[in-house]
Amino acid sequence: MRYWKKLAHRDQESRITEALKANIDYQHTISLGIPASKLDPQVFYEHAAFLKEAPLLRAYVQNPNHIGCHTMGESETFFKGTQALEREVIELLSVDVLKAEVGHCDGYIAAGGTEANIEAVWIYRNYFMEEYSASLSEIALLSSADTHYSVYKASNLLQLKSYSVPVIDDSRMLNELELDATIKIAIENGAKYFIVIANMGTTMFGSVDDPNLYVTYLNQNNVAFKIHIDGAFGGFIYPISFPDNPVNFQNPDISSVTLDAHKMLQAPYGTGVFLVRKGMMKYVCTPEARYVNGMDITLSGSRSGTNAIAVWMILFTYGPYGWFEKINKLLYRTSWLCKQLDKMQITYYRNPEMNIVTIRAKHVPAAVAQKYMMVPDTHVGEPNWYKIVLMDHVEIEHLEAALAEFTA
Ligand SMILES: Cc1ncc(COP(=O)(O)O)c(C=O)c1O
Repeated sequence: MRYWKKLAHRDQESRITEALKANIDYQHTISLGIPASKLDPQVFYEHAAFLKEAPLLRAYVQNPNHIGCHTMGESETFFKGTQALEREVIELLSVDVLKAEVGHCDGYIAAGGTEANIEAVWIYRNYFMEEYSASLSEIALLSSADTHYSVYKASNLLQLKSYSVPVIDDSRMLNELELDATIKIAIENGAKYFIVIANMGTTMFGSVDDPNLYVTYLNQNNVAFKIHIDGAFGGFIYPISFPDNPVNFQNPDISSVTLDAHKMLQAPYGTGVFLVRKGMMKYVCTPEARYVNGMDITLSGSRSGTNAIAVWMILFTYGPYGWFEKINKLLYRTSWLCKQLDKMQITYYRNPEMNIVTIRAKHVPAAVAQKYMMVPDTHVGEPNWYKIVLMDHVEIEHLEAALAEFTA
């Protein structure tokens, strides 16, 4: 690990205090033009004693705005202290978790996985339009049938036709024959350029696509493409549980990755992470954003700098070994559950490196699924699957209680 380590609370506290000091101090500086201030002191009392010990809450009160992207070009100077912490998070995740070369990636803390996925599609759509003079109808969006629906939002917003590749029912792997056929259909429909969203942990199954399958079939069909990885769920577990995986920046065909700190990392909502190889963010620059210092190249405008600090704190509280241990506890519980299901001859899907178990609906009476708040694959009609996600709060005792009510 180059950057990721464990930091004691007092070291975190002093780093965050220094960062906040380097941001604008509305109280002691005359700042006439910024349409912002700290949180309303009538409502959020800033002298509460407990704030002294709580750097994150102090950051909330100061309310830094991280508008823009801080890994390239210029940024608003008012919040330069805490922007540096965000930069650290982006570099740490790119290099230590996703194996990029040092200084090779840009990125920012987005509202969530949805925004990060849309940002990726927006970048590649504009890239093909600018670099290849592609028309909208020549750009296709390609992903598996298990892909998160944010891809369809991107397709709708960015006016790109999307193509869904069927997966094999038991293994949830891309069906290779269908992948080739889908690419050929898109080409027949006029597509010359492909934007791929490959999964590192699908929402319903935790299944992981092999990005090299997309590479093989797109190359065989002689079309240009860009690959984005949606690791919104799996990004903070799969690269740790399976470090030799092919889904990272060492793979030259992978251009960008979504991670969601507000899922596995248990960060506050509003902590999606978008990571992309340098040189790509410029394709979504909005030159009309003249009042913002630096380029506006993110989908959201104003965004909370405190969210970036929260991610920074979680990463440095655990350090890589602490995080590895936490992940392994969850994987242990997942394996325990699978063992019980095997004994009971209950059929399910599980990626061995992930903490999701998706059980065939025939084993789970609807009332039982509801009682234990299992999530179905569909709320429209009869579900085929129910999932159990082994998050931090899901304990073996809870699983035991549910198992007693499943039917073989
Ligand atoms: C794989 C995947 N991608 C994207 C998203 C969207 O994330 P968010 O809800 O943070 O926008 C989710 C959410 O469940 C997801 O599981």
